[in-house]
Amino acid sequence: MNPNGTFLANEIEDIILNSHQDGTDGSLISILEDIQDRYHFLPRDALILVSERLGIPLSQAYSIATFYNAFSLVPKGKHLVSVCLGTACHVKGGGDILDKIRRELNLDSRETTEDFQFTVEEVRCLGCCSLSPVVRVDNDTYAHLKQEQVPRILKKYQRAKEALDA
Ligand code: FES
Repeated sequence: MNPNGTFLANEIEDIILNSHQDGTDGSLISILEDIQDRYHFLPRDALILVSERLGIPLSQAYSIATFYNAFSLVPKGKHLVSVCLGTACHVKGGGDILDKIRRELNLDSRETTEDFQFTVEEVRCLGCCSLSPVVRVDNDTYAHLKQEQVPRILKKYQRAKEALDA
């Protein structure tokens, strides 16, 4: 998404042109993945453009977009913070970790920070219960997490943004 919160039609056109299209749902999914990676969600206008270019009903694009958890129809942050509140993590203080993350990011009742750097979501199990409590940020897993480690971890991702902005 550009700084105005809109997407550029020619960027979507490029994604479609560069995709391997064989007329299957697989090629549609691959295009939607690329759009999701770029904008961190699937803008409605982008879905319309994709359906027009692929010659498929908009409803088909929406059915794929809403079926897979990896896709979002609302804007998400650049970094996805998944806080596990499954049984093992809950027992080991996952809820306190979630509260700390939300406080650090000033989230109140929102899921996504105002600068669209972070989206925080609760998950039920990340599949590594012996490491509880567990938080995943993008593809990084943080095990046996303590509240006092949270600011340093979040800073790591904020620093990455500052380095890019510099
Ligand atoms: S309950 Fe948290 S990883 Fe399984």
